[in-house]
Amino acid sequence: MTDAIDAVETPTPRRNPKPEKTSIGGRELKPSTLMMGHGYDPTLSEGSLKPPIFLTSTFAFPSAADGKRHFEGITGQRPGGAEGLVYSRFNAPNQEILEDRLAIWDGAEDALSFSSGMTAICILMLAYVSHGDVIVHSGPLYAASEGFVSKVLSKFGVTYIDFPAGASSEEIDDVLKRAKKQAGENGGKVALIYLESPGNPTNALVDIEAVREARDANLKWDCPIAIDNTFLGPLWQRPLDHGADIVAYSLTKYVGGHSDLVAGSIAGAKKWMDPVRALRNTMGGIVDPNTAWMLLRSLETVELRMQRAGENAEKVCAFLKDHPKVEGLGYLGLIKDARQQDIYDRHCLGAGSTFSVFLKGGEAECFRFLDNLVIAKLAVSLGGTETLASHPASMTHLSVPHARRQQLGITDSLVRISIGIEDPDDLIADFEQALEHV
Ligand SMILES: Cc1ncc(COP(=O)(O)O)c(C=O)c1O
Repeated sequence: MTDAIDAVETPTPRRNPKPEKTSIGGRELKPSTLMMGHGYDPTLSEGSLKPPIFLTSTFAFPSAADGKRHFEGITGQRPGGAEGLVYSRFNAPNQEILEDRLAIWDGAEDALSFSSGMTAICILMLAYVSHGDVIVHSGPLYAASEGFVSKVLSKFGVTYIDFPAGASSEEIDDVLKRAKKQAGENGGKVALIYLESPGNPTNALVDIEAVREARDANLKWDCPIAIDNTFLGPLWQRPLDHGADIVAYSLTKYVGGHSDLVAGSIAGAKKWMDPVRALRNTMGGIVDPNTAWMLLRSLETVELRMQRAGENAEKVCAFLKDHPKVEGLGYLGLIKDARQQDIYDRHCLGAGSTFSVFLKGGEAECFRFLDNLVIAKLAVSLGGTETLASHPASMTHLSVPHARRQQLGITDSLVRISIGIEDPDDLIADFEQALEHV
C-alpha cells in the first residue's frame, strides 16, 4: 500500500485546538508576548508555525443544519451571532486572528479590521448616525475624517459641532449642551462623540476624561465616545482606559509600520462593535487576507519599532528645539502649555515619534528644507520604519479652508515629521544640513 492509500483508509484524526494560555502562574502575559501566537493554533493548519494566508471567498458547512444555524446567527434570528466562518466579506481566518491580537493592545473585548483607516472611520460613523443626529467632534481631525462629516454625512441630514482639541471641561460641557439643543431642533440626538488625539498635524491633545464626564452628565442615552488613536497607539496611549468607548486606527501607520500596506481597525466592547460589524457585513470593507497576514507580522515587532522611533524622535527634537532656524516644535515631549501637559501626564505613556516643526519663514523656507533632506523622504503618512517629512498646509490639509487652517495652527511654516528607526545621529546630520539651505 502506498502512503496515499494508507492516508485515505486511516485519515489523520482531526486535532483539536489547544486551549489558549494568556497567563502563567497568575502572571498576565504582555501584548508583546501574545503577538507571537495568540488566536492561532498550528494544529489546525498542518502544524504550520505561522498562519497560512487563507485565500478563499467562502467556507464549507459540515451539514445543511449547520449552514442554517450560521445564517440564523448572522441575521439575528438566533442570539449569539455567527458561529464559525461563512463568507469572506464577513470574516476569515487571517482577519480573525488579527482582530483578536488588535483587541489585546487596547484592552478591548472585540476589534474589527478594515481595508483602510478611512473605511473604518466612515463605517463606524455611518453605523451610529441617522437623519437629524449631531456628531460632536474635536478639531483638528485628519482632513478626510473632517470632510466625511461635513461634506458627506451632511447630505443625509447629519450635522456636527466641533471643539478645539485643548478645550477645557467647561468648554466641552458647553459644546455638548449646544449639540443637544441642535439635535432636539433637528429631531435627532447627539449620536456620536468623535475625537482625534493628538490631532493631526498639530499634536494637540484632547482631555478624554473630561469628555467622558461631560457625556455622562449631559446625555442619558447610549452615545459612544470614539477616538482616532493613530498617532500614539497602540503603545503610547490607551484611550479605553480613560473613558473612550471605541478606539479607531489607521493601521497603515505605526501598526503596519513599514509603509507597505493600507488598513484600518476599531476596537471596544462588543456592544459597540456589533452595529459596525453588521454594516461591514453588508457593505464589505474588511481588510484582505494578505494584508491581514502582513499586519500579523508587523504586530510581532510593533513594540520594538515604536520604542526605537520614540527614542529617535526625542534625540532629534532635542537637536531641533534650539536650532536658530526653528521657531518652535509641536512635540509631545516638549509641551509648553500647562493644560496640554496635564492631559499628557494623565493620558499618555510616551511622546510618540510624529511631530511638527515650525520653521522661521513660510512655505518657501519649508520647501527648501524638504527638498534638501537626504535620508528623510518627502511623503505624506507616518509611523513607518523610515523617516518621512511633509508640508500639511499645501499637502494633506490643502482641502481645509485657509481660515480654518490658521485657526487650527496649520500654518505655512509647519513641517510634519515622522521619525523612523534609522540611526538617530544620521537623522540629526540630515536635518542639520537641510536646515542650512533654509
Ligand atoms: C490620524 C489619521 N487618521 C486616519 C487616517 C486615514 O487612514 P488610511 O489612510 O489608512 O485610510 C490617517 C491617514 O493619514 C491619519 O493620519
